[in-house]
Amino acid sequence: MTRTRCDRTAAWGQLTTHYESAGRNLDLRDAFAQDPQRFERFSQAAPFVFADLSKNRIDAACESLLLDLARQSGLQEHRDAMFAGDKINSTEQRAVWHVLLRNPPAAPAGIAQTATGLIAVEQAKVHATLADMLDYAEQVRSDAAITDVVNIGIGGSDLGPQMATIALDAFATTGKRLHFVSNVDGHELAATLSHLKVESTLFLIASKTFTTIETMTNARSAKAWFEAQGGTDTARHFAALTTNVAAANAFGITTTFGFWDWVGGRYSMWSAIGLPLAIAIGAEGFRGFLAGAHAMDEHFRTAPLESNLPVRLALIDVWYRNFHGFTSRSIAPYHSALRRLPAYLQQLEMESNGKRVDASGEALPFGTSPVLWGEPGTNGQHAYFQMLHQGTDIVPVEFVAVKKARHSLPSHHALLLSNVLAQAQALMLGKSDVGGHKHFPGNRPSTFLLLDDLTPESLGALIALQEHRVFVTGSLWGINSFDQWGVELGKVLAKDIEPRLASGDVAGLDGSTAGLLRLLRS
Ligand code: F6P
Repeated sequence: MTRTRCDRTAAWGQLTTHYESAGRNLDLRDAFAQDPQRFERFSQAAPFVFADLSKNRIDAACESLLLDLARQSGLQEHRDAMFAGDKINSTEQRAVWHVLLRNPPAAPAGIAQTATGLIAVEQAKVHATLADMLDYAEQVRSDAAITDVVNIGIGGSDLGPQMATIALDAFATTGKRLHFVSNVDGHELAATLSHLKVESTLFLIASKTFTTIETMTNARSAKAWFEAQGGTDTARHFAALTTNVAAANAFGITTTFGFWDWVGGRYSMWSAIGLPLAIAIGAEGFRGFLAGAHAMDEHFRTAPLESNLPVRLALIDVWYRNFHGFTSRSIAPYHSALRRLPAYLQQLEMESNGKRVDASGEALPFGTSPVLWGEPGTNGQHAYFQMLHQGTDIVPVEFVAVKKARHSLPSHHALLLSNVLAQAQALMLGKSDVGGHKHFPGNRPSTFLLLDDLTPESLGALIALQEHRVFVTGSLWGINSFDQWGVELGKVLAKDIEPRLASGDVAGLDGSTAGLLRLLRS
């Protein structure tokens, strides 16, 4: 597999020229006036997701150069290497194979057809574990004595299952209360425990490594609480979701569901880490979630680049980040059940692509991950949309809307949908006013993702879409999107500081940290 960093392709230079001559000044209002087919030309149907890209600052020439950039950088080979299970996570020498977790057992097409012996072996492990995990989920669902399930995990062992469980609340049929405890801040666990009873609680300790300090601290405190309240049956009340089954056993947990080192933490909710979601929506729902993701995997794997939605989205991301210089993207899900989507996407994109060196360790001469942020609409409109419409920075917005409502309250959904359309329209059209304060410059770009309905299948597809889009930008940037060394230094320093808080020893500390430590001890 040959990868060429995007800035070393011929297309990069051509894009630079195109940006200077036309791209920089593209006005969306003129673009629509000149091309009655713009909506059709710049929209893309993919499994469960329709995307309107037409309100982005691109034209046919620009998109064609961006597609050249993708081809010249070796994107297709890199994508195929991921699907084939090659060790593309080069700094950790691991495969990146979350797509295998959603590959159906007898897939008529896709990974299974190109199966090597290794794929067949891994696939068999995946399906055996999935079957065990889903049997267990059904067991818990039918166990009336368990009323509360507490997931203890952080990062990928929290954000994905939490986001999806909230998103699919309309499909939660058990009546069990799901809690997510992630922060080492004891306020979180203490508040959760204060509502629980030992005999009716199941703790899921979710940690790929089973070493993460926050999760281990919370797990130890949960176990201590359980024992202090007279709990003895750990096998019934604790389960571990981890690649490190030995550590879970040593911790005293015998009910375990495993996964593998080729599943990255932020790509793990399709594995045993998805157990809270499976308990909430049941085995069939969870299989639907995997099927939706698989449909998007197949789209990404087989659709030509020019009609490949993850690719088209990612190319716009590169265009904005590296040519227009936009530094952030705002996520605006117009569905309250998608309220944790921005937080989930922050880890997916910023932990994957927030890198300053390429895969060979060389410093990059261009920007990588934008800042992702957002809140559900319409709430965001009454908070920071002022800045989106009239601020000095241009922030591309990604709207996510769902056609169908799953409530019967009259007029709400039409109002919600009118607002999402109006916001995208207002950003683009703007409004002239001589007074200055009431002037909206317009020409502010947005993408509009539309789902027919928010279901396990469509959520799976939406998330797989985002995973692949992040893959494509990382691939073009020439970085390794699958490690996260940037989180390590803070962890090491915290270990050094913790005993100093008790002892007061500030020797060797910088002046600020020493000063703050003294204050905290006084
Ligand atoms: O610190 C970052 C990180 O390693 C994430 O990548 C990961 O999702 C999270 O911590 C939790 O890790 P684990 O599942 O091993 O507890």
